[in-house]
Amino acid sequence: MNPPIPNAVPYLGGNEWTYLKECLDTNWVSSVGPFVERFEREMAAYVGASHAIATVNGTAALHVALLLAGVEPGDEVLVPALTFIATANAVKYCGGVPVFMDSEPRSWAMDPEKAAEFLTRECRVEGGRVVNRTSGRTVRAILPVHLYGHPADLDPLLELCNRFPLVLIEDAAEALGAEYKGRRVGARGLAGCLSFNGNKIITAGGGGMILVDDAGLAHRGRSLTTQAREESSEFVHREVGFNYRLTNLQAALGVAQLEQLDRFIEAKRQTARAYAEALGRLGSAEPLGEAPWAFSTFWMYSVLLDPACYGDVRRLIAAANGEGIHFRPLWYPLHRQPIFAGSPAYRIEVADRLYERGVSLPCSVGITAEERDRVVAFLAGARR
Ligand SMILES: Cc1ncc(COP(=O)(O)O)c(C=O)c1O
Repeated sequence: MNPPIPNAVPYLGGNEWTYLKECLDTNWVSSVGPFVERFEREMAAYVGASHAIATVNGTAALHVALLLAGVEPGDEVLVPALTFIATANAVKYCGGVPVFMDSEPRSWAMDPEKAAEFLTRECRVEGGRVVNRTSGRTVRAILPVHLYGHPADLDPLLELCNRFPLVLIEDAAEALGAEYKGRRVGARGLAGCLSFNGNKIITAGGGGMILVDDAGLAHRGRSLTTQAREESSEFVHREVGFNYRLTNLQAALGVAQLEQLDRFIEAKRQTARAYAEALGRLGSAEPLGEAPWAFSTFWMYSVLLDPACYGDVRRLIAAANGEGIHFRPLWYPLHRQPIFAGSPAYRIEVADRLYERGVSLPCSVGITAEERDRVVAFLAGARR
């Protein structure tokens, strides 16, 4: 049998060993150290934000970013239905309620038109707050996700934050290096969040980052991630904080990976081009391409398959995995999740359709042309 083809695994081909050894040799292994500061500085510069706060993972970054946005218990936050659970869980950590929004068909990310429709038809502005007419709760923020490496359509969402008293937080966990109209994502709203989980485009083993422009927010974010300890030699705390700091060991990996990021993006884009060409010849597969505003990293190469040709996508995924070719379903839409049964959802149609037909193909940075050929041959053989 052929060796398995993983879906997306790390590529550790740079200074990872050297920098990790430096941590061990210098005794800087825990949650402060030169690599933490360097990772934050270099990431802020890369994305184009004034400040970056390293966190233990992307979920923690989202949690703190939502606190910085002022999300309080009972507040609602607009979240796309098609995303990883962490996006909505972070809202729950604040005691908030996610309100699920539909996908826009070109980017698969939050549909700004439907978000606008929800805000105008279903909400009213009262005392400087957006109030959901049905629930009576305050809508505090919009949390778009740049899905699978492709930027969401940010301008109309930012425009909504001008029209309504709302703030925008970007979940850029899946899209480090992606660009919206020539600018890297993660630095357009009040805060942006990144993840360095094992299957992300760069990994720190685990880790995340909050990106902000405002110095006051950066200060508060840093405090909240370090148990909200007062700046003194004593252990004085005036609010409940979190132990969310990244370790120097993880940051050392992150710095080494960041040095390779541009090459990784190019590798992902080359895989996307190769798949698009081969699948174009095959027909009946429609990739998540690039919207006019987008430079995508193609972090997770995903396609919609025509059920008339491929039958049930879930069965196809099982068959591929049975042959050691690791296909993944798209994110299970959050409005269908048992834990979010009580959360509102607004006119979701596209996200459901994408989920029913979508699949993510193997696309590690280090995938070979032969492996891609095996993926395409599997799809060709699976056609009816
Ligand atoms: C869209 C999205 N948001 C948030 C996260 C959470 O990141 P982490 O796993 O680092 O907590 C992930 C990935 O894991 C993600 O894909």
